Amino acid sequence: MAKRAIGIDIGGTGIKGALVDVKKGILLSDRVRFETPEGGRPDDIAQIVATLISQISGSKDSMPVGICFPAVVQHGRTMSAANISKEWIGFDADGLFERKLGRHVHVVNDADAAGVAEIKFGAGASEKGLVIMTTLGTGIGSALFIDGRLVPNAELGHLEIDGVDYESKASFAAKERENLSFTDWATRLQKYYARLEALFSPDLIIVGGGVSKQHEQFLPLLKLQTRIVPALKRNNAGILGAAALAFRNSED
Ligand code: BGC
Repeated sequence: MAKRAIGIDIGGTGIKGALVDVKKGILLSDRVRFETPEGGRPDDIAQIVATLISQISGSKDSMPVGICFPAVVQHGRTMSAANISKEWIGFDADGLFERKLGRHVHVVNDADAAGVAEIKFGAGASEKGLVIMTTLGTGIGSALFIDGRLVPNAELGHLEIDGVDYESKASFAAKERENLSFTDWATRLQKYYARLEALFSPDLIIVGGGVSKQHEQFLPLLKLQTRIVPALKRNNAGILGAAALAFRNSED
């Protein structure tokens, strides 16, 4: 019997979801995508999530729903908000989605979800020791794992380097905004990953986010002691990880 859950990935521009086989780590339906509503307010996002789930083929009311989000999420409460409405800060997100969807919902940080997908089904599968997942997108997301176990809500994208929050310099959005070549961007990534390495001595660093499919353009330029590899699940990592975490949580 397949173990199934719905995974939803909420970002500043789009909301994507699909039905997931949480044992195999694969999508069992097409991905459904909607634009993030203007302002990114809680009720508007909850409404889109409800509509989106109704359009996922094979979705059943009994299936747990995992939602990942660009925010620190402690025990179902969103404690920060990147690229979405500030109304989410200190907000009972689990409660809102459970009322709206009438079933078990588990809300987690987006990079934590992507990291779980890589650790369970992707580039970090069966890795021991300290693994750091980073996502290079609008911001820099991060997830920490020790022997495969998540330490939630690491916010390492906000490391201060040269007196600034370095996400503003080394994210993929910064590359686009400043029209940086891969070589110039890699100089900033070198600074960022060298700092991570100096602080944590990880065994493995995984690099995700949409740009990781172009990893050959920048990962070989980095000079680090630590192995650094591209993510394998890329755009589906958030959906897969959120679904896997929701399924596990519904069994507890
Ligand atoms: C947020 C993180 C999030 C990351 C990726 C950062 O700005 O602080 O919570 O995981 O962006 O979306």
